[in-house]
Amino acid sequence: MDRIKIVGGGRLTGTIPISGAKNAALPLMIASMLTADRLTLKNVPNLADVNLLARILRNHGVDLAVDGKRSGGPSHLGETFHLTARDIVDTTAPYEMVSRMRASFWVLGPLIARMGIAKVSLPGGCAIGTRPVDLHLQGLKALGAEIDIDRGYVLAKAPKGLHGARIVFPKVSVGATHNVLLAAALAKGETLIENAAREPEVGDVADCLVKMGARIDGIGTSTLRIQGRDRLEGAVHTVLPDRIEAGTFAMAVAATGGDVMLAGARATDLTTALDAIRRTGVEITEADEGIRVARNGAALEPISIETQPFPGFPTDLQAQLMALMTRARGTSVIRETIFENRFMHVQELRRLGADIQLHGDTATIKGVRTLQGAPVMATDLRASVSLVIAALTAEGETTINRVYHLDRGFERLEEKLARCGADIERQSAG
Ligand code: UD1
Repeated sequence: MDRIKIVGGGRLTGTIPISGAKNAALPLMIASMLTADRLTLKNVPNLADVNLLARILRNHGVDLAVDGKRSGGPSHLGETFHLTARDIVDTTAPYEMVSRMRASFWVLGPLIARMGIAKVSLPGGCAIGTRPVDLHLQGLKALGAEIDIDRGYVLAKAPKGLHGARIVFPKVSVGATHNVLLAAALAKGETLIENAAREPEVGDVADCLVKMGARIDGIGTSTLRIQGRDRLEGAVHTVLPDRIEAGTFAMAVAATGGDVMLAGARATDLTTALDAIRRTGVEITEADEGIRVARNGAALEPISIETQPFPGFPTDLQAQLMALMTRARGTSVIRETIFENRFMHVQELRRLGADIQLHGDTATIKGVRTLQGAPVMATDLRASVSLVIAALTAEGETTINRVYHLDRGFERLEEKLARCGADIERQSAG
């Protein structure tokens, strides 16, 4: 298993190209199942999760062709995927696949909408919490799906097709919004989703569905009104930039000091996180080419935040902010309100010398003068990148084990950081 070795202490300077968003690329790839025509997605990041979903979609009969990157082309633009689901040959998504990546559960809505039948494994438990799928099922039932659960599988059918409905989600869920939005695009009549997730990735999927022929009002708001179509068409769509990757690098620069341009990042998708970083005393400038982050010697001020659905502070940046706050001059408080068990990084950050106390959903972080390098273990995607941030500011050497978690969601992480001066390298275990 690969490890990443980091020698901390250096500043970061230069430009980091921001990749396409993993959390948009995944549902956009799934949207290809809604049409027999070709869906072309540009700026798809090269990530383990994307490659796994490609395998899952191929299993269902989706044909995927990937255009190579042109040499000399803009380095931040990812690959181009051409996806064609002329025939869906298999309506089952097996446990072996869905258990490895939760987002693959989102094939459920498109399968029922297009084929009238689906058998999709329940995603099962997950390191960061129980993560149920009741809201997904509630929404799809409202659209007319008959759903049974049998031996760990969701068995769904809609012999007469899906129809529009009014769905009021009792809680904001990104995944349930995607699942219902995708299905509603092929349902008969109008669907109203209230309390929909407003994450930019949901808006990106809705924009793509509009290009495919659906009519959707309220994109970017918590009320989505979708006029379904009998058939959707092919389209060409560019995946939006990854706000979580951008926020992560912004916090890395805030932690180490330095001056970095996050090329291609969109400040409007990151307002709350950028405000939080500004409050720590870091300079953030929004420019045409991206977001510039700079800190020159000034101490980091402690801040307190709680995670919230968009436009609030994202749970996917909570671990990274905590790594940053381990070096603040004072005490910060971070409350996690989305996932009940998303504090696995705390124990590992403590191994580097961080002073963090946990009480239920709240972490209290007392800034320390220095962190010291140590061997640590990555536990999940965002937790592992918080260890990278901490290691970049620690004295001496840190080795991060189980880096496959990082490869799920961060494209060329070591390369991007090394180009800005970080002493970081991957050690392949052969
Ligand atoms: C997505 C993101 C993930 C991010 C999360 C919250 C992708 C691939 N993943 O995950 O990176 O951390 O949004 O922004 O885009 N819930 C229920 N019932 C359900 C569904 C969810 O109770 O049927 C709860 C969850 O347990 C959690 C909360 O709702 O407490 C939010 O989860 P949700 O927004 O659905 O997260 P995901 O879509 O899984």
